Amino acid sequence: MRRILLTTLLCIASNTYAQPKNNCSAVQLTCEHLVNPLGIDAIHPRLSWQLDDQRKGAVQQAYQIFLGQDSLALLRETKDSWDSGKQFSSAMLVPYTGTQLKPQTKYFWRVKVWDKDGVSTRSEIASFETGMMGMDLWKGKWISDNKDIHARETPYFRTEFKANKQVKSARAYIAAAGLYELSINGQRVCDHRLDPMYTRFDRRTLYVVTDVTQQLQKGENAIGVVLGNGWYNHQPLAVWNFDKAPWRARPTFCLELKIVYIDGTTETIVSDKQWKTASGPITYNNIYTGEHYDARLEIPNWDKPKYDDSAWQAVQYRNAPSAYIVSQQMVPIRLVKSYKPKSVTKIDQRTYVFDMGQNMAGITKVKVKGAAGTMLRIKHGERLLADGHLDQSNIDVYYRGDKEKEPFQTDILTLSGRDDEFMAKFGYKGFRYVEVSSSAAIALDSSAVTAYFMHSDVSAIGQLKTSSALVNKLWTATNNAYLSNLMGYPTDCPQREKNGWTGDGHLAIETALYNFDGITVYEKWMADHRDEQQENGVLPDIIPTGGWGYGTANGLDWTSTIAIIPWQIYQFYGDPRALEECYLNIKRYVDYVDGISPSGLTTFGRGDWVPVKSQSNLELTSSVYFYVDATILAAAAKLFGYTADQQKYELLSRKIKTAINAKFLDASKGVYSNGTQTELSVPLYWGVVPNEMKARVAANLNKKVEETNFHLDVGVLGAKALLNALKDNGYATTAYKVAVQDTYPSWGWWIVNGATTLLENWDLKATRDISDNHMMFGEIGGWFFKSIGGILPDPKQPGFKHVLLKPIFPQELKESSISYDSPYGKIVSEWKLTDKMIVYNIQIPANATATFYPPDNVRSSDIVQLEAGKHRLELELK
Ligand code: BGC
Repeated sequence: MRRILLTTLLCIASNTYAQPKNNCSAVQLTCEHLVNPLGIDAIHPRLSWQLDDQRKGAVQQAYQIFLGQDSLALLRETKDSWDSGKQFSSAMLVPYTGTQLKPQTKYFWRVKVWDKDGVSTRSEIASFETGMMGMDLWKGKWISDNKDIHARETPYFRTEFKANKQVKSARAYIAAAGLYELSINGQRVCDHRLDPMYTRFDRRTLYVVTDVTQQLQKGENAIGVVLGNGWYNHQPLAVWNFDKAPWRARPTFCLELKIVYIDGTTETIVSDKQWKTASGPITYNNIYTGEHYDARLEIPNWDKPKYDDSAWQAVQYRNAPSAYIVSQQMVPIRLVKSYKPKSVTKIDQRTYVFDMGQNMAGITKVKVKGAAGTMLRIKHGERLLADGHLDQSNIDVYYRGDKEKEPFQTDILTLSGRDDEFMAKFGYKGFRYVEVSSSAAIALDSSAVTAYFMHSDVSAIGQLKTSSALVNKLWTATNNAYLSNLMGYPTDCPQREKNGWTGDGHLAIETALYNFDGITVYEKWMADHRDEQQENGVLPDIIPTGGWGYGTANGLDWTSTIAIIPWQIYQFYGDPRALEECYLNIKRYVDYVDGISPSGLTTFGRGDWVPVKSQSNLELTSSVYFYVDATILAAAAKLFGYTADQQKYELLSRKIKTAINAKFLDASKGVYSNGTQTELSVPLYWGVVPNEMKARVAANLNKKVEETNFHLDVGVLGAKALLNALKDNGYATTAYKVAVQDTYPSWGWWIVNGATTLLENWDLKATRDISDNHMMFGEIGGWFFKSIGGILPDPKQPGFKHVLLKPIFPQELKESSISYDSPYGKIVSEWKLTDKMIVYNIQIPANATATFYPPDNVRSSDIVQLEAGKHRLELELK
């Protein structure tokens, strides 16, 4: 193949789009990957931006950052606190390196950029506000009610204070072990759900900062806090022993409300003995099972001034749950989308079943009027029985609680006799169907139930539309499964477990990053990993955990999250922070495995979980993941300049590779182990196959797939590797056929059978591992970006600074439009097949470049270099 410049290419006709305007500006300013965030605890916060410059070949020649407390000074560019100086660099992700930032302080910043012609422009002003930046500033006390861990009632807390002057700004800093909802003067202060996120509570406790300026008033003010159990005080029993978590205690919180008055004076209201506590209408709450609400016990105006709280109890002081209280610097959970019932079935006078039309994670709002004391059970699940009732048998299998008193995925609402409206505060469920059964006859229609899809509110950054309805549906189902499994950490399923299964997390990571801007969630999950790692390097296979998951099958194919996720974040964002922060943890992990695996081979792992039929060799797959980790570690060592480590781990990865090939590769046949789809694709995909053997192994894999008539015969490890191993080794046509297969066993088979999310089992008749909302087979959604989109990060210039464009043009597909909002801006890869021609439209964002590698079925094999801008290639098919 010949490398030629775009300008000399025969088959291009550029400039078909409207003439771009000739200017450049820096846009999309973020701090720590968040827009104008509050509560930044980072010492060197990362500042980033993009260039809005539509011109061909747009680049950033230089930048200069100005940062200070005075926004007016910043406008005038008079020296305030930090001026990076003009840096001749194309970098757009720059850590702040000025003098030490002050806590609880608002900083403004802007960036000046020089475009390809050396012309400079300044961005708009962005801001961030620092948080507590350590433990010293906290003056509030940790408070709780006087109850023990078994108490079912949910504690409410209140206090009042007087603001004598006009309020200029106010911030609430609230740390909690458990969950909280904060209200001021009768108003909820924000739209977050399930704050703070689940962490290893005795090692890291999160606090949240909220702007409450609008809620405060001059004169009397009241603050109200309700505490939920969350994962902190898990009451009902399930097989993962959440109830035995070492941190378990009655929920507690610590609050500081910092007010700045118009005259510049400040005042801080804190949680202390002034506060009072009582129980209210929430008589039970559990994140895993449900919430019980007795509307007759509502306390009108309890969080408003002048409420008479003389009957309320004194609060109790508590120790801080951990010595490390840090800001929840991440995208919050929200109710992102609402659903009206698609249908309502009246089963009898007391029972109704609502079909919400979409499987999801979330909660329901029930609006109803009935006689006081009537009890409604609001039961959530994914399936229906033949008689129309809800069926939870696929998801309640690991629940060991009292199914009568604390039923699984069920809220219990006791009516007040007035118009009641109820929505659980402190939990969520996985469901598509809702069965409402009442203790007395009741009339309900479709207005009675609204469902809310709830998840970490990450922005969607991948778009896909093709001429294949199946591809479009698979992509949508993948994203719905993904979002259902993102609650401040990635979970396996939103109903049966809600566990942060490590394997599921890394198997889905590329799909995740192609489709959602999730870096803040993953950086938090990596902190959870560091919190959970044992001294010897071992990680549990669910993270966070209350202690379960060490010494199960928590080996390499699952817990390699510690290496794979930071590495992929670096590839997708060009941001090495997570990799840097996890470096020593990856090292400790690899050293541990090295210690127990002198030969370079290991059986430490679970294997190809939930396979269709063929079992694959555990030692082979686990050793491949050991190789992956050692390779990532060596690459990270190189990146950070740790030369001795680099050499050591390069040597180790070579040793592992040699050992795998010596034991499992039959070089005479080009087959690994017994030659299952997984055993051939895993070594191919992860780079273990010697160069000279790749073609033969790939040919064998292709043959194996042909033997199943283009159906899957893999579990989770094979499902991650198979399509890539085929596509990257000359069998794109086979890969695509497997991807869009719609008879059993295939991804498409689920969709044909009505799935709106991805499932846990290929076999729809299986009797275990049968959740209908799992993400572990989620590679499919991301693979479309890598295959028909062909948009790949270049490890040599990560973060899509340089884009590798390696699309495939399957004959069966007429049209595909895929785009991805990379850190540099939107990358578009869009093509249409007409007769024997592909018209391929590409868009590369400013300050990035791309290389197009034509697929095998294109006549010209010329590699094309592309600068920023829009391009149109006309490609003749063979
Ligand atoms: C989970 C999976 C997980 C697996 C590991 C299951 O119960 O739902 O997604 O990875 O266990 O054994």
